[in-house]
Amino acid sequence: MAHPKEVGGYNLGRLIIEGKTKQVFDLPEVPGHCLLLNKDRITAGDGVKAHDLEGKAAISNQTNAKVFEILKSAGIKTAFVKIVAPTAFISKKCEMIPIEWVTRRLATGSFLKRNPGVKEGFRFTPPKQETFYKDDANHDPQWSEEQIVSANFNFNGVTIGQDEVDYMRKATILVFEILEKAWALRDCALIDMKIEFGVDSEGNILLADIIDSDSWRLWPSGDKRLMVDKQVYRNLTNVTAADLDTVKRNFAWVKDQLDHLKPNVHHKVVIFMGSPADQAHCQNIAKVARDLGLNVDLRITSAHKATEETLRIMQQYEDTHGALVFIAVAGRSNGLGPVLSGNTSYPVINCPPPSEKLVQDIWSSLSVPSGLGCATVIYPDSAALMAAQIIGLQDYIVWARLRVKQLEMATSLRQADKKLRNQV
Ligand SMILES: Nc1ncnc2c1ncn2[C@@H]1O[C@H](COP(=O)(O)OP(=O)(O)O)[C@@H](O)[C@H]1O
Ligand SMILES: [Mg+2]
Repeated sequence: MAHPKEVGGYNLGRLIIEGKTKQVFDLPEVPGHCLLLNKDRITAGDGVKAHDLEGKAAISNQTNAKVFEILKSAGIKTAFVKIVAPTAFISKKCEMIPIEWVTRRLATGSFLKRNPGVKEGFRFTPPKQETFYKDDANHDPQWSEEQIVSANFNFNGVTIGQDEVDYMRKATILVFEILEKAWALRDCALIDMKIEFGVDSEGNILLADIIDSDSWRLWPSGDKRLMVDKQVYRNLTNVTAADLDTVKRNFAWVKDQLDHLKPNVHHKVVIFMGSPADQAHCQNIAKVARDLGLNVDLRITSAHKATEETLRIMQQYEDTHGALVFIAVAGRSNGLGPVLSGNTSYPVINCPPPSEKLVQDIWSSLSVPSGLGCATVIYPDSAALMAAQIIGLQDYIVWARLRVKQLEMATSLRQADKKLRNQV
């Protein structure tokens, strides 16, 4: 088959690989990147069942882009770059790790066959993670972690050992949980999904390939009968034109729903400081909070010297925002946090500035009158993280950024440990 020479204004190089649903082309003018061209093709059963489905490539392209945008904004490292044509997008060029990483919230489908006795709908907490070796000829056999490590894969200079497998397993579960929370906003239950990872030319392990209606089971209202994913196609014995139309309509519905998966809660973190002298400390809190994607305001007001003004400012915020956290920064005797806390039902976090007298001063934040529920931390990043945890209860993107941060911390500690071991 003749290949296109150009797509979306990009000159195509050689066809790197062609699979069941996509072609991957080199981009000679964009080093380190490739172009993925979706096909109007739907397949199931390792390609045994296959049909042309006009319009599927464009729906898939949009679905994938929207899903990857959500994951990107949550801080997940992905290969996706941008859409460049109705059926094509640019991605970082990867050497792909030939493993399908599957996560399940409820037991259904092939899990039930492989685990006789487990009833459909069994709920996994935490989600169940399984790995399959990509090998159509042998029906993608399930692989254990030991098998993956023993394969001694090396892609773009990275050996896939225990550390890399651990990272991918954690990232896989995180991706599932993010999309599960996202879909919950539309009352859709994400039942299970599969993803793939690749290694880019710089040796980064990235979430790659695509995520579309072929990648998951999605049950509106948690009702299997309402399924809108590729399972509808898998279940068909005789595939009619009307059936294919239903499948396509479902896929298009999913693509459109993805526009409504952004967190719909406005939030604000207001840092009150008792004196301009506390600004440096407050800026440290604001920086960590903003890096987590929080909207932050900084205000100067003294609860001791200008009580009415303090309460007036506080009430202005209560009036205008949904998810709201106050952080109170006051040296010496902290009247600010307890006064805010005694007059609002929103959370207040005390974070007194560093001082030689902190050990004595801290008691004004800790030993508060009855009826007050403010919390106290002393490090700027602790205050920002706690605020993010509170906002994250209502905003899954903020929640996800916290989880990504934890995953990155664990990874960098492990890398430091590895470096140290290699030195000795
Ligand atoms: N960013 C990328 N860089 C290089 N190859 C990729 C990238 N993303 C996906 N691929 C590969 O593109 C190939 C074609 O995709 P697809 O048609 O889904 O294949 P398959 O039938 O093997 O699932 C797959 O082998 C997939 O691993
Ligand atoms: Mg595929």
